[in-house]
Amino acid sequence: MLNLALSMAVSYPPHSPHSSLPSASVAESRTALLKRAARDAMDYLEGEDTRSVAPRPEAIAALNALRGPLPPGPTSAEAVLHLLDTYGSPATVAKTGGRNFGFVNGGCLPAALAASWLVSTWDQNAAFFVQSPTAVVLEEIALDWVRQLLGLPEGTGGAVVTGATMANFSALAAARHALLARAGWNVEADGLFGAPPITVVVGEEAHASVLKALGMLGLGRNRVVRVPVDGQGRMRADAVPHMDAQTILCLQAGNVNTGAFDPAAAICPAARAAGAWIHVDGAFGLWAAASPEYHRWTKGFEQADSWATDAHKWPNVGYDCGIALVRDPEQLRAAMSMEAAYLVQGEHREPSYYNPELSRRARGVELWAGLRSLGRSGLAEIVERTSNHARRFAAGLKAAGYQILNDVVINQVLVSFGTPEQTLSTIARLQAEGTCWCGSTVWQGQTAMRISVSSWATTKEDVDRCLAAMLKAAKE
Ligand SMILES: Cc1ncc(COP(=O)(O)O)c(C=O)c1O
Repeated sequence: MLNLALSMAVSYPPHSPHSSLPSASVAESRTALLKRAARDAMDYLEGEDTRSVAPRPEAIAALNALRGPLPPGPTSAEAVLHLLDTYGSPATVAKTGGRNFGFVNGGCLPAALAASWLVSTWDQNAAFFVQSPTAVVLEEIALDWVRQLLGLPEGTGGAVVTGATMANFSALAAARHALLARAGWNVEADGLFGAPPITVVVGEEAHASVLKALGMLGLGRNRVVRVPVDGQGRMRADAVPHMDAQTILCLQAGNVNTGAFDPAAAICPAARAAGAWIHVDGAFGLWAAASPEYHRWTKGFEQADSWATDAHKWPNVGYDCGIALVRDPEQLRAAMSMEAAYLVQGEHREPSYYNPELSRRARGVELWAGLRSLGRSGLAEIVERTSNHARRFAAGLKAAGYQILNDVVINQVLVSFGTPEQTLSTIARLQAEGTCWCGSTVWQGQTAMRISVSSWATTKEDVDRCLAAMLKAAKE
């Protein structure tokens, strides 16, 4: 309290247009500060339509104003906020609007944004029920909503983590535990040196985060059997190798470039019969299960043992929010729990026993809020609307004579503007012009621009405006 009072009492630096703080109580000053933060946030959102999606080079250069040595003494909270908004806001990527098509980035739903303000205000540690009943109960409810939306078996449990990378890591840690326990080996206690071998099977187009997770688990990024894929990046069912009870099979629901799904229905029955552990990286694609129109792509993935997905992608719950789900949650608990005299097991599910982290943000609250605001039909609508937008992009680009490299099955489009140089220079012009933002990739040897339509906020008008910007950039 002393420190807070001290920092509240410090006036603005001389260059600030604001005068020193009124001599109000700490509570009043804090209220004024939060109102100002809310105003800054609203101004930011309102200004979004008129600004460049990528920050201007001058704005990035101006971030230097935030460098320098740590001041020897306190700065008022108002001055800190002023610095952040003055220099920080302009150098952000405008991704809460509808014109950022880079990576696979959702926006943030209003309910999730408002919830995140409350979550930050509550400052809960969502490790144990005793530390935050609200955080733990809402996370539990949200996890089961996710399970239902994805059409996964009852009894499936999981963890709310930072993203699909950590969700892959957590779920694969459960797989590693289960397979080695089956072989009489306690990997958490004894490590991997001398352990019975595990074979990991992945598709040639597995996402890099799956390989990273395997590396972090000591299973090796390169020590995998790679299954050939087709022209869309789908694992070839006829090329899947022999599997047994010491095999982890990693399938993919939604390729980061094409959006294509591995043929789970054709692959899973044999994998299950062999006793293999099936893991699904469904960072965004798995959410297609919530849409009656797109559900068909996710058929068969429900037969898996574990799934990784992101709520900060298609569900637009804001950063960061990933989810690991495991058919037998006890395997996840065995991999993640720890013991210390001061850590408690109450009557409730204790999130920390299912998570890589001990202390953690109450991101399950934002997940709960985002999903509650959407409902099943709202999520289905985002999946369907963004996929329609992707098709509109593809049709417009194709009509203008450019080559679409993928079958646009969901929200991802790959377009070539000619030679690799022509494509890369088009992307550079588009990013600099600022109407929208798209990144590049190399898809099976061909340089392409990626369009990932993942934000709830994208409208048909946005698509047409961005399409015009793309065509202009391609012709310059
Ligand atoms: C298929 C797939 N898996 C995993 C990831 C990693 O997700 P995150 O960035 O949330 O860790 C992504 C990210 O785009 C993805 O598309």
